[in-house]
Amino acid sequence: MARATASEGSTEATRRLGLRHPIVQGPFGGGLSTARLVAAVSNAGGLGSYGAHILSPEEITGTAAAIRALTPHPFALNLWVSDHDPGGRELSPETHTRVARIFEPYFRELGLEVPPPPEQFHPRFEEQIEALLEARPPVFSFVFGVPSPAILAECRRRGIITVGAATSLEEALLLDEANVDLVVATGFEAGGHRPSFLAPAEDSLIGTFVLTQLVAPRVRAPVIAAGGIADRRGIDAALVLGAQAAQIGTAFLACEESGATDEHRALLFGQTTSTTTLTRAFTGRLARGLRNRWTDEMLPRLADLPPFPVQSWFVSQLKRAAVAAKRTDVVSLWAGQIAPNLRHHTAAALMQSLTAPLTAPQEGQP
Ligand SMILES: Cc1cc2nc3c(=O)[nH]c(=O)nc-3n(C[C@H](O)[C@H](O)[C@H](O)COP(=O)(O)O)c2cc1C
Repeated sequence: MARATASEGSTEATRRLGLRHPIVQGPFGGGLSTARLVAAVSNAGGLGSYGAHILSPEEITGTAAAIRALTPHPFALNLWVSDHDPGGRELSPETHTRVARIFEPYFRELGLEVPPPPEQFHPRFEEQIEALLEARPPVFSFVFGVPSPAILAECRRRGIITVGAATSLEEALLLDEANVDLVVATGFEAGGHRPSFLAPAEDSLIGTFVLTQLVAPRVRAPVIAAGGIADRRGIDAALVLGAQAAQIGTAFLACEESGATDEHRALLFGQTTSTTTLTRAFTGRLARGLRNRWTDEMLPRLADLPPFPVQSWFVSQLKRAAVAAKRTDVVSLWAGQIAPNLRHHTAAALMQSLTAPLTAPQEGQP
């Protein structure tokens, strides 16, 4: 085999990121990241990542400190470069009334009234990046766009390694031209959002292994393959195809250190995990999760739903009460297509299996 395997450890990505293993724990937005999970992965020689896109600048500062208190090793803070879609920054009273009508029966079911719109739907990227630069994490990873040359230059000046995500060859080439340090090639198998920024997400549905093979020979930056990888064989396969590391999301989301609810975690290990779907029903942006009542009932209404982040705000207001009631029918249950193969319940056990030598029978072969 021409390239290093996971057990050998060293690749261009591990050297740039300062890791013992070519393994990145994918960041989770939406409150599902925890400092504990990040530290567990970083302490085990991978790169723990914290999805900070819903955090205020003050929360970003506090999160970086909380992670540093748990690990001396490299970690990533992750932001969404584009913080709204067209029409998603404000909400007219007419649109609020129209959308409230769609949500009203669900709020009523939970004994709630549809709340009035907030002053701001989502923290602004410009403010978040100021706090992130100040916190100076070893790695800044991002999705949904390319930060300005000034931000990338400031990262370089402060010694912050940059990692950008691509869902197509065109996006990877743009990130490479911008001199981003590493490029994530993220396939449609992946759990969570499809972070396309050049073409609509629906037109950017390429599988991880195809995307990796298209991108790796055409960019200078080392490539991190993401989507559908949950065991040693998957990492090795990604490396054979030209990646220099693998980013794993769903398998870490299922670990007890993540911010997922017990109900979500149980479903990830349950019998219905093969029925994932790509939907805009939760946030207004296309994302992969388990099919449930919400994804089904919103299907005929997708054209009436507001853009990101307005839809995301409405759903988050419902989610708080739904989670408290341990409901799984009207909340997002993010999951990637590999979910039926999940086996490990702690980050330490998962990291150990991802880095141990292969033995027969191999992981993922029931
Ligand atoms: C619940 C969830 C939230 C995610 N949030 C983010 C995010 O905020 N930023 C990001 O770069 N990637 C995000 N991702 C993508 C993961 O970091 C990772 O690339 C992906 O899960 C890999 O595919 P897999 O789920 O098949 O392992 C998220 C994934 C999940 C499952």
